[in-house]
Amino acid sequence: MSRTSPSAPPRVALVTGASAGIGQATALALVKAGYRVFGTYRKSPQRKSLGIDYLYCDVTDDASVAAAVDEVLRVSHRLDLLVNNAGIGLVAGAEESSVEQAKALFDVNLFGAIRMTQAVLPVMRRQKAGRIVNLSSILGVIPSPYSALYASTKHAMEGYFESLDHEVRAFGVRAVLVEPAYTRTAFEGNVLHADRKLDDYQSARSRAEEHLRKVMQDADAAETVADVVVRAAQDPNPQLRYTAGSVAKRVSMLRRFVPASAFDKSLRKQLGL
Ligand SMILES: NC(=O)c1ccc[n+]([C@@H]2O[C@H](COP(=O)([O-])OP(=O)(O)OC[C@H]3O[C@@H](n4cnc5c(N)ncnc54)[C@H](OP(=O)(O)O)[C@@H]3O)[C@@H](O)[C@H]2O)c1
Repeated sequence: MSRTSPSAPPRVALVTGASAGIGQATALALVKAGYRVFGTYRKSPQRKSLGIDYLYCDVTDDASVAAAVDEVLRVSHRLDLLVNNAGIGLVAGAEESSVEQAKALFDVNLFGAIRMTQAVLPVMRRQKAGRIVNLSSILGVIPSPYSALYASTKHAMEGYFESLDHEVRAFGVRAVLVEPAYTRTAFEGNVLHADRKLDDYQSARSRAEEHLRKVMQDADAAETVADVVVRAAQDPNPQLRYTAGSVAKRVSMLRRFVPASAFDKSLRKQLGL
């Protein structure tokens, strides 16, 4: 997907969760790259950015997803790029979340992306072109104690989109994954907490929370991730995975080349486990 020539109509992008953080930075970077950008919100953004057409969309709601995609098509008659960005975190011992809480998290992070994807694929297949960029995480390829459910939503996202990519490339559509490490956004403030805390996990959970607070201070800027999303959207020969930022790149390399026992030992050491 190369840049649009001056005479061609702009390519059309839909970014979920564009009210803040990585989604907002991505929507702005796509405007800069020449896309017509529709960005979704649940809570109306405090400051709306110029160049973005805002739409309400709750990715956990089928009707809301269908209405948002219909509106993009009503206005622009095509859709070249979907960025599945909407997502939330959860810091808790794995045993400390009820199944209801686990389902609610998956409903946003995994099923939200699947709902959006199913809504846009018919039009992308008709166009015989389209790209779906998914905000996974480096936690989609490594274990994450005290974020087991969050990590499992991202592992599931990796499995789903890696498989989907093989099916839809026959229609000119590609699905790719972007894997940031820690990124400075409101993410940490928005994380869900255990809905049935257990005393046995209290001190280790607190250390994990403290670790998250610490690493967030030196984390990558949302713009770093946004630039990688734009690259993933435009890459003429898309890779399946794009790490975003130096930490994600380093962790991904270590995961591949360091023996699992050494990798896991260092992970536990970091979290004081
Ligand atoms: N920040 C990190 O360290 C990091 C690292 C790796 C991956 N990621 C991934 O990057 C993505 C963006 O995270 P962020 O850091 O930008 O977090 P953020 O600042 O908390 O933004 C999250 C966005 O998701 C939207 N959202 C949440 N629930 C939604 C729902 N049910 N329907 C529609 N939109 C919903 C929010 O919209 P409203 O505010 O309008 O509700 C918001 O725009 C997530 O998928 C996250 O897992 C983040």
